[in-house]
Amino acid sequence: MSNHIEYRALVAEESKRGFTQQVRILSTASLPENDLLVRVHYSSLNYKDALSASGNRAVTKNYPFTPGIDAAGIIVKSGTDKFKEGDEVIVTSYDLGMNTPGGFGEYISVPAEWTLHLPGNLTLKESMMIGTSGLTAAIGIEKIMAGGIEPESGKILVTGATGAVGSFAVALLARLNYDVVAATGKTDREEFLIKAGASEVIHRDRVSDVGGSPLLSSSWAGAIDTVGGSMLDAVIRQTAHNGVVACCGNVLGGELNTSIYPFILRGVSLMGIDSGIALMQDRLRLWNKLAGPWKPEPEILAHVCTEKGLDDMKPEIEKMLQGGQSGKILVNLRD
Ligand SMILES: NC(=O)c1ccc[n+]([C@@H]2O[C@H](COP(=O)([O-])OP(=O)(O)OC[C@H]3O[C@@H](n4cnc5c(N)ncnc54)[C@H](OP(=O)(O)O)[C@@H]3O)[C@@H](O)[C@H]2O)c1
Repeated sequence: MSNHIEYRALVAEESKRGFTQQVRILSTASLPENDLLVRVHYSSLNYKDALSASGNRAVTKNYPFTPGIDAAGIIVKSGTDKFKEGDEVIVTSYDLGMNTPGGFGEYISVPAEWTLHLPGNLTLKESMMIGTSGLTAAIGIEKIMAGGIEPESGKILVTGATGAVGSFAVALLARLNYDVVAATGKTDREEFLIKAGASEVIHRDRVSDVGGSPLLSSSWAGAIDTVGGSMLDAVIRQTAHNGVVACCGNVLGGELNTSIYPFILRGVSLMGIDSGIALMQDRLRLWNKLAGPWKPEPEILAHVCTEKGLDDMKPEIEKMLQGGQSGKILVNLRD
């Protein structure tokens, strides 16, 4: 008798009409051979998943494919003594959901090196309410702190504030007593952002439509930019003396045209965030912070996240590609 298990997964497929996503029944026989077979209970939707699901070959080379760079679940088979059956684990990024079938399937097969034990004081569900977007925000905040920016230093700007990373950055900064200004294109989401922790909400055009002067008035002690491109350039030029800008996103494309003056006349630092290749020792430190002193209040997690099942994901992916998401989509694969 076969030991293989049938399971449900959201599969991105190429057809004559382009890429679509369908819930399919797959077998664990189709998963790659790896140390650990994990029954996924929760995942979350990230921008990279929307790209993979829509056929972006810079993210995923071969289709049909199951996206999902985030997964939290329980080990059902282990080929290593680092983990045993029944352990609760988190797997985020590395190659998961890029070219290794990801967390939008009820089972994943992953190397032990990509996997960490769920920190105490965090449930599987909470870990995916945080997920890669929370980890990304946390990396950016650590970099701002390492640059000496304290709550007393001044306002911290978050761009793309209603996005998955942006809304988490707002919530985490507020948790750490920073004065957060949220820049968004969705002015109807002001209440959402204030409740997440912003002290002020501004239209994103107020940040980006500022002309070409190489230095603008010093508005921000620090910033987390999730948008990139002309937005990031404008943020850099508005950042105060010795300020720190941490950037993670390329929503406005891969180009960054800026000038040297904010760096050599104001000592501004531009720090990159790459949660995908963060070292395991850094992930462990950050997850322990996120499970401990940095853990958002349960009502803030619930406010920022919306729970969906696999069958509901198609419109959510489309909405994310249109820049229309507010907060974060938690994917329930348990029930
Ligand atoms: N480097 C890393 O480690 C890392 C990790 C995670 C994500 N990322 C990247 O970070 C970015 C954000 O990811 P996410 O998961 O937060 O995506 P998301 O939920 O789709 O958020 C992106 C936000 O960008 C804003 N936006 C959309 N179109 C815009 C436009 N034309 N001009 C200005 N702003 C626009 C929107 O916020 P408003 O409507 O509020 O303005 C949108 O909600 C993506 O590029 C993603 O690939 C990088």
